[in-house]
Amino acid sequence: MSEEAPDPQHLVPATGRWPQGGLSAAGIRLRVWSTDDVPALLELQEDPDMRRWSPVFNTPDAADCVERVRKAVQAEEEGRPNSFAIVDDDDPRQVLGSIDWRNTHPMWPFSILDVGYGVSPGARGRGVASTALRLLAEWLLDPAGGDVHRVQLDHAVENEGSCRTAVRAGFAIEGRRDVFLPLRESPDAAVVRHDVCLHGRVRR
Ligand SMILES: CC(C)(COP(=O)(O)OP(=O)(O)OC[C@H]1O[C@@H](n2cnc3c(N)ncnc32)[C@H](O)[C@@H]1OP(=O)(O)O)[C@@H](O)C(=O)NCCC(=O)NCCS
Repeated sequence: MSEEAPDPQHLVPATGRWPQGGLSAAGIRLRVWSTDDVPALLELQEDPDMRRWSPVFNTPDAADCVERVRKAVQAEEEGRPNSFAIVDDDDPRQVLGSIDWRNTHPMWPFSILDVGYGVSPGARGRGVASTALRLLAEWLLDPAGGDVHRVQLDHAVENEGSCRTAVRAGFAIEGRRDVFLPLRESPDAAVVRHDVCLHGRVRR
């Protein structure tokens, strides 16, 4: 490997430049979760489609949501926000969905981030998820902010809405990974590992 390790600040991707007030476009805004959002976050996590397509096995409860908000606030305080409410730009108290990223390959020089998202039933079908995903990806891949060259996501091959959302947000379809994502068709059903479609958006 001839490439030199970047500045230590850049070893942690997406550090220290989250704009005050968050990111916005086309009537939506991404902002870090606040404690006032706990009921909306719980309602979102309880949505049957969210539970159907996300690898979440525990029944969502308020304590989980409080903890998730606490971690999101802490990450922001450390200069590395990673979990966001998608809100209405005209009324930022109104939560429309959620989006977050995690560092699946934390060792330099990989810096590959995975993204996950979901939108409330009442806010679907008007560009919320694809706009949020595009905003977050462009922020993560901005050379000014860190050593991130690849943002990726995968969804069950049956989840056409997520596939079209990713494509709309500039994530190419890259292939299929078999027997990958453990999901339940309903809360009492057995776990089935679904084949997934992999998408990536990169900075070259
Ligand atoms: C999938 C989901 C995030 C889409 O959110 P959304 O805000 O409605 O998506 P958008 O309005 O940005 O739509 C983007 C594209 O996807 C298409 N789309 C959205 N939902 C769709 C669906 N259920 N079936 C087919 N296409 C769909 C839109 O028509 C649009 O297509 P276009 O670019 O050709 O115009 C939302 O339905 C959801 O939260 N589902 C449950 C959780 C989930 O599946 N999360 C992803 C796990 S990988």
